[in-house]
Amino acid sequence: MATVLETMKITPLSAACGAEISGVDLTQELTPATVAAIRQAWNDHIVLVFRGQKITQEQQLRFASYFGNLGRRKNAMFRQELQQRTHGTKQTDPNVLLVSNIKENGEPIGAFGEGEMWFHIDSGYAEKPYNYTFLYALELPSTGGNTQFSNMYKAYDALPAKLKSELAGKKALHIHEYERSAKVEVKEDLSQTAHYFHPVFSTHAETGRKSLFVDRLMTARIEGYSKDENEVLLEQLYEVGERPEFIYEHKWQLDDFVMWDNRCAIHARTWFPPEERRLLRRCAIEGAPIHE
Ligand code: OGA
Ligand code: MN
Repeated sequence: MATVLETMKITPLSAACGAEISGVDLTQELTPATVAAIRQAWNDHIVLVFRGQKITQEQQLRFASYFGNLGRRKNAMFRQELQQRTHGTKQTDPNVLLVSNIKENGEPIGAFGEGEMWFHIDSGYAEKPYNYTFLYALELPSTGGNTQFSNMYKAYDALPAKLKSELAGKKALHIHEYERSAKVEVKEDLSQTAHYFHPVFSTHAETGRKSLFVDRLMTARIEGYSKDENEVLLEQLYEVGERPEFIYEHKWQLDDFVMWDNRCAIHARTWFPPEERRLLRRCAIEGAPIHE
């Protein structure tokens, strides 16, 4: 009988990033050799897509655990409104977050609600942002709600040399304070806001490649610049980070399982009809401090 390693096939999905992996059944335990092959594909393609998987929550968590320690839901420590954002009535495991707009008896069953979501890094406001995020599609709207991934290695490489040298060694403030698709005013007093300063450029611990590590949703400012300077600088960085040629847009099908590397990709969500149900099951892997 053919082994998983022999049946596994890797097919790139776009020139930007992303690859589909077929021939692997995620309900099964995988050998270290298969896990190593998936990790290699992950380092090569940033985003991996497995289609037609029928996985339970336990199987999803077991698979994710091959790649590190599961990351607990990061409940906002401070403000009540933010806490409610990740509080969902159907989230039974502290390592699972349901991404959903569904409400039952007026209460959200999961987090992140409806509508568009700007490009972001998951838990970029933490000292150790997640290394990886995994999403599994359980219910989908008839249109929209696509997840876009932008290759931040390519963004770094494409930055003008002057900007690269200007921002080398600089740190940016990431905050847990957002409106999903709008900018929030940054408060002077950050004592009530989860936040962290990370290098603007990060070096990936496994690939050794440099990437741009800022996002439109939660990066508030770069240290050492005025508000006006920041507006210009950040817009320049976002423009490069969100160039269409660096983006793979995933159009979900039921039973898709998508996993991405949060250290070298930012991701966003497109609009979908709010009256239609959308439900994805998310888990993540703990990360480490970001180094330039
Ligand atoms: C997430 C996320 C996007 C989506 O789960 O971290 O950003 O498409 N999801 O719902
Ligand atoms: Mn996200």
